Amino acid sequence: MLLGEYSKSGIFHYFYPGQTSKVTPAPVINMKNKTKTAALLCLCMIFLGTVYSCKKAKGTDKELFDMATETGGFTWYKNSDILLDKSSGSGHPQPFLRTRYNAIAATQLDADGKVIPGSLFPEGSLVVKELINNSSAVDRYAILYKNASSHDADANGWVWGYINADGIVAEPASNQGAACISCHLQDEHIDYMLMNKYFP
Ligand code: HEC
Repeated sequence: MLLGEYSKSGIFHYFYPGQTSKVTPAPVINMKNKTKTAALLCLCMIFLGTVYSCKKAKGTDKELFDMATETGGFTWYKNSDILLDKSSGSGHPQPFLRTRYNAIAATQLDADGKVIPGSLFPEGSLVVKELINNSSAVDRYAILYKNASSHDADANGWVWGYINADGIVAEPASNQGAACISCHLQDEHIDYMLMNKYFP
Protein backbone atom coordinates (compact mmCIF):
# COMPACT_ATOMS: atom_id res chain seq x y z
CA MET A 1 0.00 0.00 0.00
CA LEU A 2 1.20 3.53 -0.80
CA LEU A 3 0.88 6.07 2.01
CA GLY A 4 2.15 9.52 2.63
CA GLU A 5 1.59 12.87 4.30
CA TYR A 6 1.17 16.52 3.35
CA SER A 7 4.11 18.80 4.01
CA LYS A 8 3.55 22.36 5.29
CA SER A 9 3.66 23.73 1.76
CA GLY A 10 0.71 21.50 0.81
CA ILE A 11 2.72 19.03 -1.24
CA PHE A 12 1.85 15.36 -0.79
CA HIS A 13 4.88 13.18 -0.09
CA TYR A 14 4.50 9.49 -0.81
CA PHE A 15 5.95 6.82 1.45
CA TYR A 16 6.67 3.57 -0.31
CA PRO A 17 5.96 0.30 1.50
CA GLY A 18 8.32 -0.14 4.39
CA GLN A 19 9.55 3.43 4.08
CA THR A 20 9.11 5.83 6.99
CA SER A 21 11.08 8.85 5.76
CA LYS A 22 9.91 11.26 3.05
CA VAL A 23 10.84 10.77 -0.58
CA THR A 24 11.15 13.41 -3.29
CA PRO A 25 7.67 14.37 -4.41
CA ALA A 26 6.72 13.66 -8.01
CA PRO A 27 6.11 17.01 -9.74
CA VAL A 28 2.68 15.91 -10.94
CA ILE A 29 1.36 15.97 -7.36
CA ASN A 30 1.97 19.73 -7.06
CA MET A 31 -1.49 20.54 -8.39
CA LYS A 32 -2.38 23.29 -5.95
CA ASN A 33 -0.01 25.82 -7.50
CA LYS A 34 -0.99 24.84 -11.02
CA THR A 35 -4.66 25.37 -10.25
CA LYS A 36 -3.88 28.74 -8.70
CA THR A 37 -1.87 29.83 -11.74
CA ALA A 38 -4.62 28.72 -14.12
CA ALA A 39 -7.27 30.56 -12.09
CA LEU A 40 -5.15 33.72 -12.04
CA LEU A 41 -4.62 33.53 -15.81
CA CYS A 42 -8.36 33.14 -16.34
CA LEU A 43 -9.09 36.17 -14.16
CA CYS A 44 -6.48 38.24 -16.00
CA MET A 45 -8.01 37.34 -19.37
CA ILE A 46 -11.53 38.17 -18.21
CA PHE A 47 -10.29 41.50 -16.82
CA LEU A 48 -8.40 42.44 -20.01
CA GLY A 49 -11.38 41.37 -22.13
CA THR A 50 -13.70 43.60 -20.13
CA VAL A 51 -11.39 46.61 -20.37
CA TYR A 52 -11.06 46.10 -24.15
CA SER A 53 -14.80 45.72 -24.79
CA CYS A 54 -15.53 48.81 -22.66
CA LYS A 55 -13.33 50.94 -24.90
CA LYS A 56 -14.69 49.52 -28.16
CA ALA A 57 -17.10 52.03 -29.74
CA LYS A 58 -20.78 51.53 -28.88
CA GLY A 59 -23.86 53.78 -28.76
CA THR A 60 -23.17 57.24 -30.20
CA ASP A 61 -19.48 56.44 -30.69
CA LYS A 62 -20.37 53.39 -32.78
CA GLU A 63 -22.77 55.48 -34.91
CA LEU A 64 -20.08 58.13 -35.46
CA PHE A 65 -17.50 55.45 -36.26
CA ASP A 66 -19.78 53.74 -38.79
CA MET A 67 -20.58 57.06 -40.50
CA ALA A 68 -16.93 58.10 -40.59
CA THR A 69 -15.64 54.83 -42.02
CA GLU A 70 -18.32 54.77 -44.75
CA THR A 71 -16.37 56.99 -47.15
CA GLY A 72 -18.77 57.31 -50.11
CA GLY A 73 -20.43 60.66 -50.90
CA PHE A 74 -17.92 62.94 -49.17
CA THR A 75 -16.23 66.07 -50.54
CA TRP A 76 -12.61 66.71 -49.56
CA TYR A 77 -11.45 70.05 -48.23
CA LYS A 78 -10.22 72.08 -51.21
CA ASN A 79 -11.54 69.20 -53.36
CA SER A 80 -8.32 67.25 -52.74
CA ASP A 81 -7.57 64.01 -50.91
CA ILE A 82 -3.79 64.59 -50.71
CA LEU A 83 -2.25 64.06 -47.28
CA LEU A 84 -1.57 67.40 -45.60
CA ASP A 85 1.26 67.86 -43.09
CA LYS A 86 -0.28 68.45 -39.67
CA SER A 87 -0.41 72.13 -38.79
CA SER A 88 1.19 73.99 -35.91
CA GLY A 89 -2.22 74.00 -34.21
CA SER A 90 -3.29 70.39 -34.92
CA GLY A 91 -2.86 69.17 -31.35
CA HIS A 92 -2.34 65.50 -32.27
CA PRO A 93 0.83 63.43 -32.83
CA GLN A 94 -0.05 61.91 -36.24
CA PRO A 95 2.08 63.56 -38.98
CA PHE A 96 -0.61 63.87 -41.69
CA LEU A 97 -4.29 64.71 -42.00
CA ARG A 98 -7.07 65.34 -44.46
CA THR A 99 -10.67 66.43 -43.96
CA ARG A 100 -13.91 65.50 -45.71
CA TYR A 101 -17.54 66.67 -45.57
CA ASN A 102 -20.71 64.63 -46.15
CA ALA A 103 -23.25 65.93 -48.71
CA ILE A 104 -25.09 68.06 -46.11
CA ALA A 105 -21.89 69.61 -44.71
CA ALA A 106 -20.57 70.16 -48.24
CA THR A 107 -23.39 72.69 -48.80
CA GLN A 108 -21.22 75.02 -46.68
CA LEU A 109 -18.21 74.73 -49.00
CA ASP A 110 -17.46 77.13 -51.84
CA ALA A 111 -16.41 76.05 -55.34
CA ASP A 112 -12.79 75.69 -54.14
CA GLY A 113 -13.87 73.31 -51.37
CA LYS A 114 -13.23 75.79 -48.55
CA VAL A 115 -15.75 76.55 -45.80
CA ILE A 116 -17.79 79.68 -46.60
CA PRO A 117 -17.06 82.36 -43.95
CA GLY A 118 -19.97 82.80 -41.53
CA SER A 119 -21.39 79.32 -42.22
CA LEU A 120 -23.64 77.63 -39.70
CA PHE A 121 -23.68 73.94 -40.60
CA PRO A 122 -27.17 72.39 -40.94
CA GLU A 123 -28.44 69.35 -39.00
CA GLY A 124 -26.95 66.12 -40.34
CA SER A 125 -23.62 67.72 -41.27
CA LEU A 126 -20.71 65.32 -40.78
CA VAL A 127 -17.09 66.49 -40.91
CA VAL A 128 -14.33 63.91 -40.60
CA LYS A 129 -10.65 64.67 -40.12
CA GLU A 130 -8.50 61.62 -40.78
CA LEU A 131 -5.36 61.56 -38.64
CA ILE A 132 -2.83 59.65 -40.70
CA ASN A 133 0.34 57.86 -39.59
CA ASN A 134 3.74 57.47 -41.25
CA SER A 135 2.53 54.49 -43.30
CA SER A 136 -0.20 56.64 -44.91
CA ALA A 137 -2.88 54.69 -43.01
CA VAL A 138 -5.68 56.29 -41.00
CA ASP A 139 -4.79 56.05 -37.34
CA ARG A 140 -7.74 57.91 -35.82
CA TYR A 141 -10.90 59.75 -36.87
CA ALA A 142 -11.73 63.17 -35.44
CA ILE A 143 -15.44 63.69 -36.05
CA LEU A 144 -17.92 66.55 -35.83
CA TYR A 145 -21.58 65.65 -36.36
CA LYS A 146 -24.40 68.23 -36.16
CA ASN A 147 -27.22 66.43 -34.37
CA ALA A 148 -28.85 68.74 -31.83
CA SER A 149 -31.31 66.07 -30.67
CA SER A 150 -28.52 63.72 -29.53
CA HIS A 151 -28.05 63.52 -25.78
CA ASP A 152 -24.32 63.75 -26.50
CA ALA A 153 -24.63 67.07 -28.40
CA ASP A 154 -22.95 70.18 -26.99
CA ALA A 155 -24.72 73.54 -26.60
CA ASN A 156 -24.24 74.25 -30.32
CA GLY A 157 -25.75 70.96 -31.45
CA TRP A 158 -22.42 69.34 -32.36
CA VAL A 159 -21.47 65.80 -31.33
CA TRP A 160 -17.71 65.23 -30.97
CA GLY A 161 -16.08 61.91 -31.83
CA TYR A 162 -12.46 60.77 -31.48
CA ILE A 163 -12.11 57.10 -32.42
CA ASN A 164 -9.15 54.98 -33.51
CA ALA A 165 -9.21 53.15 -36.84
CA ASP A 166 -9.66 49.82 -34.98
CA GLY A 167 -12.84 51.12 -33.33
CA ILE A 168 -11.34 51.84 -29.90
CA VAL A 169 -12.72 55.09 -28.48
CA ALA A 170 -10.05 57.69 -27.72
CA GLU A 171 -12.46 60.31 -26.36
CA PRO A 172 -16.12 59.36 -25.83
CA ALA A 173 -18.88 61.45 -27.42
CA SER A 174 -20.55 61.54 -23.99
CA ASN A 175 -17.80 63.99 -22.92
CA GLN A 176 -19.50 66.48 -25.29
CA GLY A 177 -16.25 67.82 -26.70
CA ALA A 178 -14.73 68.69 -23.32
CA ALA A 179 -11.25 67.91 -24.70
CA CYS A 180 -11.86 69.70 -27.99
CA ILE A 181 -14.04 72.80 -27.67
CA SER A 182 -11.67 75.35 -26.15
CA CYS A 183 -9.18 74.86 -28.97
CA HIS A 184 -11.92 74.86 -31.61
CA LEU A 185 -13.31 78.18 -30.34
CA GLN A 186 -10.09 80.04 -31.17
CA ASP A 187 -10.12 83.21 -33.34
CA GLU A 188 -11.26 82.69 -36.93
CA HIS A 189 -13.14 79.43 -36.33
CA ILE A 190 -16.30 79.03 -38.43
CA ASP A 191 -18.90 77.08 -36.43
CA TYR A 192 -15.84 75.38 -34.80
CA MET A 193 -14.17 74.66 -38.16
CA LEU A 194 -10.44 75.37 -38.30
CA MET A 195 -9.34 74.05 -41.71
CA ASN A 196 -9.71 77.48 -43.36
CA LYS A 197 -7.47 79.07 -40.75
CA TYR A 198 -4.65 76.50 -40.90
CA PHE A 199 -4.90 75.58 -44.59
CA PRO A 200 -5.96 78.86 -46.24
C1 HEC B 1 -5.02 72.01 -29.61
C2 HEC B 1 -6.09 72.33 -30.49
C3 HEC B 1 -7.09 71.27 -30.89
C4 HEC B 1 -7.74 70.36 -30.09
C5 HEC B 1 -7.59 70.14 -28.59
C6 HEC B 1 -8.62 69.63 -30.97
N1 HEC B 1 -8.51 70.07 -32.25
FE1 HEC B 1 -9.60 69.47 -33.85
N2 HEC B 1 -8.53 70.67 -35.07
C7 HEC B 1 -7.56 71.55 -34.66
C8 HEC B 1 -6.99 72.21 -35.81
C9 HEC B 1 -5.89 73.26 -35.80
C10 HEC B 1 -7.68 71.73 -36.93
C11 HEC B 1 -7.45 72.10 -38.40
C12 HEC B 1 -6.67 70.97 -39.04
C13 HEC B 1 -5.31 70.80 -38.41
O1 HEC B 1 -4.50 71.74 -38.50
O2 HEC B 1 -5.10 69.76 -37.82
C14 HEC B 1 -8.67 70.80 -36.42
C15 HEC B 1 -9.58 70.13 -37.21
C16 HEC B 1 -10.55 69.31 -36.75
C17 HEC B 1 -11.61 68.76 -37.56
C18 HEC B 1 -11.86 69.05 -39.03
C19 HEC B 1 -12.83 70.21 -39.15
C20 HEC B 1 -12.23 71.61 -38.97
O3 HEC B 1 -12.10 72.35 -39.95
O4 HEC B 1 -11.95 71.98 -37.81
C21 HEC B 1 -12.34 67.96 -36.74
C22 HEC B 1 -13.58 67.17 -37.14
C23 HEC B 1 -11.74 68.01 -35.42
N3 HEC B 1 -10.67 68.86 -35.46
C24 HEC B 1 -12.21 67.31 -34.33
C25 HEC B 1 -11.63 67.40 -33.06
C26 HEC B 1 -12.07 66.61 -31.92
C27 HEC B 1 -13.18 65.59 -31.95
C28 HEC B 1 -11.29 66.98 -30.86
C29 HEC B 1 -11.33 66.49 -29.43
C30 HEC B 1 -11.27 65.08 -29.21
C31 HEC B 1 -10.37 68.00 -31.34
N4 HEC B 1 -10.61 68.23 -32.67
C32 HEC B 1 -9.46 68.62 -30.55
C33 HEC B 1 -7.15 71.77 -33.38
C34 HEC B 1 -7.58 71.07 -32.26
